Amino acid sequence: MKLSDFQDCLLLWYDRNQRDLPWRREPSLYKTVVSEFMLQQTRVSTVLPYFENWLTEFKDFKSLAHAPESKVLKAWEGLGYYSRARNLHKLAKVAESWQTPPTSLKQWTKLPGVGPYIAAAVTSISLGRAEAVCDGNVVRVLSRILAISENFKDGATAQKKLRPIAQSLISTNRPGDYNQAIMELGATVCHRSSPLCSVCPILTHCKSGVSEDWARYPAIMGKPKNSANLFRYWVENKNHLLLHASEDGRLKGIFELPEKLPAGEVFQKASTSPFAIRKRTIGNTEYTERIFRIMLNCKMRASLPEG
Ligand code: ADE
Repeated sequence: MKLSDFQDCLLLWYDRNQRDLPWRREPSLYKTVVSEFMLQQTRVSTVLPYFENWLTEFKDFKSLAHAPESKVLKAWEGLGYYSRARNLHKLAKVAESWQTPPTSLKQWTKLPGVGPYIAAAVTSISLGRAEAVCDGNVVRVLSRILAISENFKDGATAQKKLRPIAQSLISTNRPGDYNQAIMELGATVCHRSSPLCSVCPILTHCKSGVSEDWARYPAIMGKPKNSANLFRYWVENKNHLLLHASEDGRLKGIFELPEKLPAGEVFQKASTSPFAIRKRTIGNTEYTERIFRIMLNCKMRASLPEG
């Protein structure tokens, strides 16, 4: 593969086809940091409304640094992986004292919540450093282009092992655009199943695309999934709903349906069949939550605000 041809094809495609995303309009270091914190583990379509709202609530590092944590968590509510919000808040407090922002990958990886992915994304996109990102999309694109048949233990291992290859391919003239282009290609063309090879700008550079055996790559074993069952209560009083916020742990300050009923209160018996079943996967665990509906008795009703 001729490296400069490959980079030119990818960058030309990106120049013509990049999505119009809010963090790409009048880009700034702050917008890049916020968007990359949100995009880690989360898809673009989910992030869009959160990003727009975030910029209205916290327009720069300073306003984020001075916001109360409860407001920061509220603006993140629904995006999941809340430690990202807490770390972004901490990072904003550090950023307040910057004369100039750090520019090296090493300095960025010392900041709260910044791992190799965010450090490479931020330093390349905002600071012009030739640091390659290697997320799930990049792993898919690279393993298909190069027909890498190594069987990886899991996605994180694949990202770690392919990072040096990603680094060897990055455009040093336009590192930020190159990183965004390869992630964008993975998200919009080189799909996990049914990739759009006929419109792929780098098909001629792609070993598995040319031989039409892209489905073999990447070979990732994947961990067996754990499952967990939870019971929650939907305790309703006219138009009030009982919610519980954890006082510590990863979900500190986040409101959820309670897993236990408040001690000392007398409730009508819950129905034995759940009112709703909610399934969600967090990390490697698939949670099944059975939600039981309960009406309050008078005593409890008196202790809740009327509205
Ligand atoms: N995925 C995560 N960050 C991205 C970016 N800046 N462009 C395209 N895809 C991304």
